[in-house]
Amino acid sequence: MTKGPAVQKMFDAIAGRYDLMNRVMTMGQDQRWRRFVVEKARPPEHGRVLDLATGTGDIAVLACRQRPGLAVIGADFSQNMLHEAQRRFALEAVSWQACDANCLPYRDQSFDAVTFGYLLRNVDDSLAVLREVCRVLKPGGRVVCLDTTPPDKSLTAPLVRLYFRFGIPLLGRMIARDKAAYAYLTGSTMEFHRAEELASLFRKAGFSEVGYRKFMLGTIAVHWGSRA
Ligand SMILES: C[S@@+](CC[C@H](N)C(=O)[O-])C[C@H]1O[C@@H](n2cnc3c(N)ncnc32)[C@H](O)[C@@H]1O
Repeated sequence: MTKGPAVQKMFDAIAGRYDLMNRVMTMGQDQRWRRFVVEKARPPEHGRVLDLATGTGDIAVLACRQRPGLAVIGADFSQNMLHEAQRRFALEAVSWQACDANCLPYRDQSFDAVTFGYLLRNVDDSLAVLREVCRVLKPGGRVVCLDTTPPDKSLTAPLVRLYFRFGIPLLGRMIARDKAAYAYLTGSTMEFHRAEELASLFRKAGFSEVGYRKFMLGTIAVHWGSRA
């Protein structure tokens, strides 16, 4: 069975509490990582940017505010997340659109940058999605991806694992009132590609100048690359 329908239902269910949960779970750090995503995307002044899996819209809106000349699309397959984005940012010049990252309804080579936060952990085939992203990017266009990443073996790893295993599901029950959704976050993080493996997938999908940086005790990674 594909992950899509269950993931869509889960995000539809937690949309109203998603932002509060993010701020608490990351101890207020999450916006810093999103700002770094936008910095790394480096679109030209009047460029076109697609923020895929935009959710409640933070990355799309940061891009718009950092560079008011951009045309920014925020796209997601959860209607409730998109409604939340529209409610929060009614006055922002983002075009909110419904779409599935596996099959983008955009022409080849139509964007200068594509960003996505916490998308790939939720899809069945990261490489296929990366190829689809590559297809819609112009030559030289940039991709930037923010996601959780399995913690490396380090002195802090046992503590990090405890936080993921017990802390996050507990916060999920208390704040988002959905323990299962946040137990899924833990499971999907531990099963997700390690940062170096994900960098290899970027290269395999057709990106060059691939790099990444980790945050939050090595549990968050931002990957980037350029379409050749
Ligand atoms: C954890 S949220 C991240 C939202 C936002 N990017 C952020 O930084 O907070 C993941 C989002 O990915 C969306 N998503 C997951 N799989 C998707 C797919 N195949 N196509 C489009 N959106 C997808 C979900 O609906 C959800 O809104």
